[in-house]
Amino acid sequence: MNPRSLRFRITAWYAGLLAGTLMMFGVSVYLGLERYLDWTLQRTLASECRTIATELLSQFPTKNPAWLATEINEAYAPEVNGRFIRVVREGVDVAYVSGAPKDGTFDPSRIPLPTDQEKDAPRKLQFGAGSRLLINTMGFTAPDGSRFLVESGAPYNQTEVVLHGLLVTLAIYMPFIVSLAVAGGYWLMRRSLQPVDEITRRAEGITSTNLSERLPVICTGDELERLSISLNRMIERLDEAFQHINRFSADASHELRTPLTILQLELEGIAQSHRGESGLGDHIGSALEETHRMSRIVESLLAISRLDAGEVKMEKVHIDLGDLVASTASEMALLADEKAIRLRTLGTTGVCVEGDKTRLQQVIVNLIDNAIKYTHEGGRVEVSVGREETVAVLEVSDNGPGIPADCLPHVFERFYRADKARSRASGGAGLGLSIVKAICAAHAAEVTVSSQPGQGTCFRVELPLLPVLASD
Ligand SMILES: Nc1ncnc2c1ncn2[C@@H]1O[C@H](COP(=O)(O)OP(=O)(O)OP(=O)(O)O)[C@@H](O)[C@H]1O
Ligand SMILES: [Mg+2]
Repeated sequence: MNPRSLRFRITAWYAGLLAGTLMMFGVSVYLGLERYLDWTLQRTLASECRTIATELLSQFPTKNPAWLATEINEAYAPEVNGRFIRVVREGVDVAYVSGAPKDGTFDPSRIPLPTDQEKDAPRKLQFGAGSRLLINTMGFTAPDGSRFLVESGAPYNQTEVVLHGLLVTLAIYMPFIVSLAVAGGYWLMRRSLQPVDEITRRAEGITSTNLSERLPVICTGDELERLSISLNRMIERLDEAFQHINRFSADASHELRTPLTILQLELEGIAQSHRGESGLGDHIGSALEETHRMSRIVESLLAISRLDAGEVKMEKVHIDLGDLVASTASEMALLADEKAIRLRTLGTTGVCVEGDKTRLQQVIVNLIDNAIKYTHEGGRVEVSVGREETVAVLEVSDNGPGIPADCLPHVFERFYRADKARSRASGGAGLGLSIVKAICAAHAAEVTVSSQPGQGTCFRVELPLLPVLASD
């Protein structure tokens, strides 16, 4: 999965969860506060009723309504505070009723008397558009036996103002908090997934040729650290398995060398003693040829296995690639002449690289040998050396039959021959290019091939230029 999309998905989940949790939190705070304010208002009103009853109405029989009005107005100032207070002498009259509040939210004269069910319980009344009143009623019996109903009410305005304020605060801050958390979460996610990107990038670059490399270990003490350690252990096991295979090939080739040499010597001895005998001599000659061929294969296999296992000690020196190509090509001119092939060397001297001279010469020989071997008589082979930015480029091209596109990806594999019948006839075992590839890998060089069937083939080797010369 693309880490970028993973990041987006986790962030989206996180944002959704956070927004949902905040929403639930907001709703519960709103409902809780509404209940609490309602309850507080009810308690205040109930306590007001109780105070009026116990402190004023208990003295009322000896006083008059004017005294009651003065006392209540002085103590509670209902008109100023926007409150409603009414004292009813049950079955007689209304002993006191507060005036209309200054803000005109309700009209006390229009408030109906409580029904029997509404006595001793709070009730809510709606006035006009949006103005609501909470009224608490309490029954009281004075010492002289007269019964009173005390009502105390207050508009919901203040509660509504507080709740509205909370709503506005939540509406402003919640998106802000969510956006901040999403941005922070995305940043954290990027930071924590960065090592995964690095591991992926490095893992992509690990092939059978550089199994000694390891992935970076993320020291976080969590799953990522365990993952990077496990991957490294897996690469180590693969490395060991590859080394085992290489060692086996090298050991097998090495063991075959001696018996083959003995066989060759024996056959040469027999051939000497039977010189002149046409029938037997021919048979021994052909057997000898086959042992020579087998020896070459064993030698090549041994060379590849040792190169792959890194057992070959490279004697790296500064080499002028142009000079090396010119001298090698001139040594092979005879081979080209045999097929009337025009072998041309194009190149500049002064293209210097660092490498093992013998091995690099082997690369050049193998490539020129192939070009001559697979090009028809009278053909043309060109070897060129040049430089491109930081690399030295060696190209061996010919105008031979070319290599079919489906064979191109396999030509560097061991024992692979594009045209089996022809290569075998020319003595090829399909190991020359494997050696080229192994030597190039040991020199941090890259070898590639391009070919147009019927028109020719071009092998290109890119070697790192010596730094000093790269800048001139
Ligand atoms: N210049 C070329 N033109 C056409 N085909 C080529 C050329 N170079 C290589 N090939 C093809 O690639 C195959 C592999 O080449 P490689 O050099 O590895 O093996 P070989 O030449 O068959 O045997 P060896 O090099 O071991 O004697 C060859 O068999 C041949 O089919
Ligand atoms: Mg070859």
